[in-house]
Amino acid sequence: MSAEDNKRRAARAALDWLDDARIIGVGTGSTVNHFIEALGDIRSRLDGAVSSSEASGRRLKALGIPVLDLNSAGELPVYVDGADQANRHLQLIKGGGGALTREKIVAAVSRQFVCIVDDSKLTQVLGSFPLPVEVIPMARSYVARELVKLGGRPDWRQGFVTDNGNHILDVHGLTILDPPALEAEINQIAGVVTVGIFARRPADVLLVGHADKVETIRS
Ligand code: A5P
Repeated sequence: MSAEDNKRRAARAALDWLDDARIIGVGTGSTVNHFIEALGDIRSRLDGAVSSSEASGRRLKALGIPVLDLNSAGELPVYVDGADQANRHLQLIKGGGGALTREKIVAAVSRQFVCIVDDSKLTQVLGSFPLPVEVIPMARSYVARELVKLGGRPDWRQGFVTDNGNHILDVHGLTILDPPALEAEINQIAGVVTVGIFARRPADVLLVGHADKVETIRS
């Protein structure tokens, strides 16, 4: 069984967490792409979706699922998204695909955040996946210097511009022992739009796709 099969298994299991929601939040990435594909089977139950990226929005529209503006959708009952790393406290690193800021916004307005990952993403300590930080372009060098002071090795994701017109620094070499504290500290740096630690608003449910099962970890 490949990681791709495990992602697909976790993604399909997320359908069971939608209950009778008619509007849902949908994240970004290869695992979510499997979830969007699975939504095709139940699209008549949905009035629409709020998407965390232009890329997922295009996929949803291609299935005939209306993509809604978050400002008019209000609070969402459920949000389904992937992660780059997850621990058993349901704290996450996200942003490998660069959509972290919109993901954090959609997570914030959702009552239930269902995170879908394959088992290679599960870790005891976050940080071996380079931590994405979205920055205002003019602040990139300043923020990078501040991140070095925190013990990281920031690397500019050159040639990549976020859906919000900003840049990404991927921070290597961190061992994140206190995710909520580091999340707050990095978010305080002038010029940071958001950091890809999701710990102050962690997932509520983590669905981990293994070769033979989907493991459910709840808060
Ligand atoms: C997008 O910015 C990310 O937060 C994704 O949710 C994360 O990178 C997981 O992506 P994959 O499902 O492609 O591994």
